[in-house]
Amino acid sequence: MDALRDRLHERLTPFDQHHVLAFWEELSDAKRQHLAEQIERLDLKRLEQLHRCHEVPEDWSALAGRALAPPAIRLNQIAPSIAPQDAFNRGQQALSAGQVGVILVAGGQGTRLGFDAPKGMFAIGPVSGASLFQIIIEKILARARVARMRIPLYLMTSPATHQPTIDYLRANENFGLPEEDLKVFCQGTMPAVDAQSGRLLLADKHQLALSPDGHGGMLQALSESRCLADIRRRGLHQLFYCQVDNALVNVCDPLFLGYHLLSHSELSTQVVAKRTPRDKVGNVISVDGRLRIIEYSDLNPLADDVVTRRAADGTEIFWAGNTAIHIFNTVFLERMVRSGTALPFHVAHKAVGHLDPSGQQIEPERPNAHKFERFIFDLLPEARQAIVVEVDEAKAFAPLKNAPGEARDTLATVQEQMIALHREWLEAAGCEVDPGVAVEISPGFAQSAQELAAQVQPGLVVTKPRYFC
Ligand code: UTP
Repeated sequence: MDALRDRLHERLTPFDQHHVLAFWEELSDAKRQHLAEQIERLDLKRLEQLHRCHEVPEDWSALAGRALAPPAIRLNQIAPSIAPQDAFNRGQQALSAGQVGVILVAGGQGTRLGFDAPKGMFAIGPVSGASLFQIIIEKILARARVARMRIPLYLMTSPATHQPTIDYLRANENFGLPEEDLKVFCQGTMPAVDAQSGRLLLADKHQLALSPDGHGGMLQALSESRCLADIRRRGLHQLFYCQVDNALVNVCDPLFLGYHLLSHSELSTQVVAKRTPRDKVGNVISVDGRLRIIEYSDLNPLADDVVTRRAADGTEIFWAGNTAIHIFNTVFLERMVRSGTALPFHVAHKAVGHLDPSGQQIEPERPNAHKFERFIFDLLPEARQAIVVEVDEAKAFAPLKNAPGEARDTLATVQEQMIALHREWLEAAGCEVDPGVAVEISPGFAQSAQELAAQVQPGLVVTKPRYFC
């Protein structure tokens, strides 16, 4: 073990990180081994660079000044270049040919929500109490049933959510998804460092403070877990990507798929029209002929005349809110994996609990550390052809982000949106729902107003909470 310590010390010292061995003498052999494995996996040179580079922040004001509104397939467009019916048919065709898979990212820590288990296990169904995982899997199954074809799910977890997710899905028999159509893969981690010094933080005497490497970690994890090889083996040419927290995501939306395919797009993105210029969503923009995203945290501090800027035709530059729903062409993803450098790390300034040099646990109230994350949307400018498709927020975007009390993206607002949409479908089918009565439609029952109309009798009156399943 002394040799091991010496080897680690030698590795850490040039980067001034040997303090992580401070408690080595107190550790059992198993704990020493655990710490050694974590240290050996570190890319210390890159960490040092990341810490240093952070000191030169991007000039968001200049970028926002150069930005144009993204060219987009908008809702209610008068003369669309692709007829919606053609797009729908093309999407349906790809689904029926078995060329589409789903990537669901569920490795986040859900800190804002304050829920201990993986967020996918959160009971969101307003009447059924169904979890986000259940609803999303049922949407996949419903889409597969209509297409008469299997749609495999590649589900990304992180070290903290991996086992609970597997146990939960197993206990619920994957909500009906065949075992061979489910691949759960775990994303990587990055260490947190002290914001001032760049030195690694210890979460415990034998444990570095690590956190998931962002949803952009999907690219590397998909490749390293051999899921990308599986995707190729199964002949999945397009991958529908979504996040676990969107209760209204229209999984494998044939219309969106069709636009993507007919535009020969490598990466397509669904957006919603922002309600106000400073909405807390990422902004899809066009800069120097490429699509990219500027986060609300970078845009919102800028002056009003920048944030509310309009193009000559009156369109707001920053109208397109990112829903984090994408379709990737598989060949594009493979190219990005090969390029190795496509996704940069972003630095987040966060409060991270850690041990002080005497071994006391510190829980800082203010941000003390830098965390490093990759964002999947940084692939956007890399695509040779990328399109933006607008969807109606009320029908397709209800992310659960926040604990009760916040103005939006809470349990209450998400459930309100689910009920409102399902009420609208019922009313369109000629049913009546008494005011204030909660209704919920299982994806297996119907996935759209049209599907629902074929399932219910017009004239039905709903007087008490009801789950259509
Ligand atoms: P968010 O960025 O909203 O993070 O993730 P979060 O973990 O859900 O919540 P906060 O920020 O800690 O409150 C958006 C989506 O990306 C996934 C999440 O699981 C969610 O589906 N994600 C995020 C990952 O899969 N891995 C990550 O490292 C980060």
